[in-house]
Amino acid sequence: MKPEDPKIAQLRRAREEAKLGGGEERIAKQHAAGKLTARERLDLLLDRGSFRELDMFVRHRAVGFGVEQTRPYGDGVVTGYGTISGRLVFVFAQDFTVFGGSLGEAHAEKICKVMDLAMKVGAPVIGLNDSGGARIQEGVAALGGYAEIFLRNVLASGVIPQISAIMGTCAGGAVYSPALTDFILMVKGTSHMFITGPGVIKAVTHEEVPFEELGGAMTHSTKSGVAHFAAENEEHCLQLVKRLLSFIPQNNMEDPPVVPPTDDPQRMDAELDSLVPDNPNKPYDMRDIIRRVVDNGDYFEVQEHWARNITIGFARLDGHSVGIVAQNPAFLAGVLDIDSSVKAGRFVRFCDCFNIPIITFVDVPGFLPGVAQEHGGIIRHGAKLLYAYCEATVPKITLITRKGYGGAYDVMSSKHIRGDINYAWPSAEIAVMGPDGAVNIIFRKEIAGAEDPEAKREALIRDYRDRFANPYIAAARGYIDDIIEPHETRPRLIEALRMLQNKRDSNPPKKHGNIPL
Ligand code: HXC
Repeated sequence: MKPEDPKIAQLRRAREEAKLGGGEERIAKQHAAGKLTARERLDLLLDRGSFRELDMFVRHRAVGFGVEQTRPYGDGVVTGYGTISGRLVFVFAQDFTVFGGSLGEAHAEKICKVMDLAMKVGAPVIGLNDSGGARIQEGVAALGGYAEIFLRNVLASGVIPQISAIMGTCAGGAVYSPALTDFILMVKGTSHMFITGPGVIKAVTHEEVPFEELGGAMTHSTKSGVAHFAAENEEHCLQLVKRLLSFIPQNNMEDPPVVPPTDDPQRMDAELDSLVPDNPNKPYDMRDIIRRVVDNGDYFEVQEHWARNITIGFARLDGHSVGIVAQNPAFLAGVLDIDSSVKAGRFVRFCDCFNIPIITFVDVPGFLPGVAQEHGGIIRHGAKLLYAYCEATVPKITLITRKGYGGAYDVMSSKHIRGDINYAWPSAEIAVMGPDGAVNIIFRKEIAGAEDPEAKREALIRDYRDRFANPYIAAARGYIDDIIEPHETRPRLIEALRMLQNKRDSNPPKKHGNIPL
């Protein structure tokens, strides 16, 4: 067929029309709102020239409410595949310029098609979400479309990584597909997630709340824990997606990518010897330790603004991806509470799904006491983290830097729940509880009957600290494999990781466990 053939011209015209989505006026509106179009976003996300679009000519088949008069090519979502740093990914980008990115039957079918392909070939799915939710004119067909996607999200969970970037408003049903995926990224100022918007909330509960406060990036990054990352702008958001992918394998049958290391695996760090304060009640930021240990000080923190008493994220040790879970005594003394348990529990499960070894840094005074925690279900939520660590079969290396007290000692990847290599620094205190609490309980009568109760209490605390607040009792039982000097932490972790490289472990055959939800 010659280029001047009218059929070629027709195809080219149709392609141009499809690329315009909802038209130039709506594209200008999108730009004026500080947002990029679906295609501009894909251009930024994917390697140049790698995008292969599918279903460009799909149109909806709906009738009623006048929608039959408007049948734009693509039906409000751009789908296909491409590469990021040379690695295959499947993508869908909702086009807000077409029916507000709302999801109808055909729109859903397009998303399902790329999800099915991604599952067949074992590659991540990245959704760029910008949608007013179920397309109201399509009624139950739109609801059915959502459910088809939800089902695929769940079946793909733990098989291929699924990442949701929220690039605009995600209202109603539009939030639930992202919620089922592994990571949610939001953009400050322009992306919002909510089940019902400010208007409905006002009508039902009489509460008045602006969009940003209700479901903006920082709300979901600090209060609800729904979002894993809050980006400064759309470009930053897409960069974060790429960085995240760099730590993750293509699917659950692969190992994570290995980056040629540029940091000496034998590197010692004398600063580590003085990072933990002598006073056990003095805070320090665990991330300072993590950064000194991992390759090039590069720690990619996840959910950094929520439940800050635990820090989670990705890093590399000698070029190999690891998931980090660590108490952070700089916040709430690093205590375990509801939010930190849920945060870390989900992350441990992600790492376990995708063959990413878990390095756990422990400095935990215990679970947070209080009526709010008890009534909020700390028993149920704390059990999530315990469950996640117990079932994880990836290499698990633990380092206790200071406190490992009570149930929290057990939970934090202890030897007893299949920690593979468990180290402690000489500053570690591993016991049922801290000296103050222990003395107040077991020596209550002696203290009350003493001539000088305060002096007696102090003496008993000192004695308890000397006898029990150290790593040697645990090490004597083999609960700690070795007590290491802080400066040698990096080489010791890398050595352990290498030794565990071919680790194989499994759980009893079952349909699935029953994690306390
Ligand atoms: C059809 C929709 C739509 C929808 C927006 N549009 N949402 N069309 N179905 N759900 C259309 C608008 O009519 C408009 O068309 C265009 O998209 C842009 O919308 P605007 O309102 O002009 O934009 P903006 O002011 O930026 O507001 C965006 C918005 C708002 C906040 C998303 O449109 C909105 O509140 N939409 C409804 C959100 C909602 O309640 N969804 C829940 C649906 S029920 P024109 O032609 O004028 O440009 C649901 C349940 C599913 O999702 C449950 C599954 C489990």
